[in-house]
Amino acid sequence: VVDDEPLVCNLIVDTLRNAGFAAEGARKLHEVQARLAAADFDLVITDLKLPDGSGVDLLAACQDRASRIPFVLISGFADTDEVIRALNLGARALLEKPFDIQRLLEVVEQALAPQRCERVEAAFRRHQAAMNRELRQCVADAVAENQRLFLGSLAALAKAIDARDPYTQQHSASVARLARDTAAQLALPEDDIQVAEMAGSLHDIGKLAVPEGVLLKPGRLTDAEFAQIKLHPAKSREILLPLPGMEACAAAVYAHHERVDGTGYPQGLAGERIPLLGRILSVCDAWDAMTTHRPYRRALSADRALAILHGDAGTQFDPAVVQAFFRLSSIAPLAAASSVLPCPRGPSS
Ligand SMILES: [Fe+2]
Repeated sequence: VVDDEPLVCNLIVDTLRNAGFAAEGARKLHEVQARLAAADFDLVITDLKLPDGSGVDLLAACQDRASRIPFVLISGFADTDEVIRALNLGARALLEKPFDIQRLLEVVEQALAPQRCERVEAAFRRHQAAMNRELRQCVADAVAENQRLFLGSLAALAKAIDARDPYTQQHSASVARLARDTAAQLALPEDDIQVAEMAGSLHDIGKLAVPEGVLLKPGRLTDAEFAQIKLHPAKSREILLPLPGMEACAAAVYAHHERVDGTGYPQGLAGERIPLLGRILSVCDAWDAMTTHRPYRRALSADRALAILHGDAGTQFDPAVVQAFFRLSSIAPLAAASSVLPCPRGPSS
């Protein structure tokens, strides 16, 4: 409140304070300019005529401020030119002295109304943005929970697969652990390491579609029976692919029976055309299968299994993956003690 008459200035300040506003008074123009620069004010009520200038000059000086402050001008006499200039500069109201105090409060309320609307709108926008963030988080949580439940169901199915075959009860869990460790040994990104573990756990899930009589047959499989077995990577992929974010996992399980020489199944891909995670699964799956008892043979010794991985590196297996596999903490001591292992043959690609 800028007015050189102390009585008027104090009356307005007190009235505003009583009405709940934070208000302060000033008598001269130069005082006000410094205070306006130093703090945020929502409104200036100024006398038109001040000892060191005009309220309209103050208004003009404030027009180039980043946030324009609304002005209410009060005047003891009507100077038409100054009034027009004030209105042109965007003054919100002009009060002629003497004015009714109630009228002053109405004018103040009106002058502040646009800012209040803006603040309410800004608060609403902030609230809306917060609600949107919360909503997005809820949806993401729900999707993650849904996925977790679905993966839990798949893991249970993987266990069910293992449970169908008394010889391979820990197979999925073992392949998952070995695939994770091999991916880490190859310094793959953390996401790929997690996918390797998941793919290891789910790689044979498509065997649900293979009749038990074929899956557990102790003797040699007929061509027709082997054809049924060979469908399981595609079935594993079919089960996983509809899940959001499971593309890499589905591609890995689809490729776990490919061979780097291109004679594997289902696609007969060769070398690096086989997804790396599929090449990792292939080594880990073969190791676990070889070193556990099967209906058609007893478990091979670690020495023999290492020799097979070594010998088939470059034909069945990716040599770089085999080398990484041999460095695993669970395998390295066996490899060090092995009499048949120098190191695998050169790269496959
Ligand atoms: Fe398999």
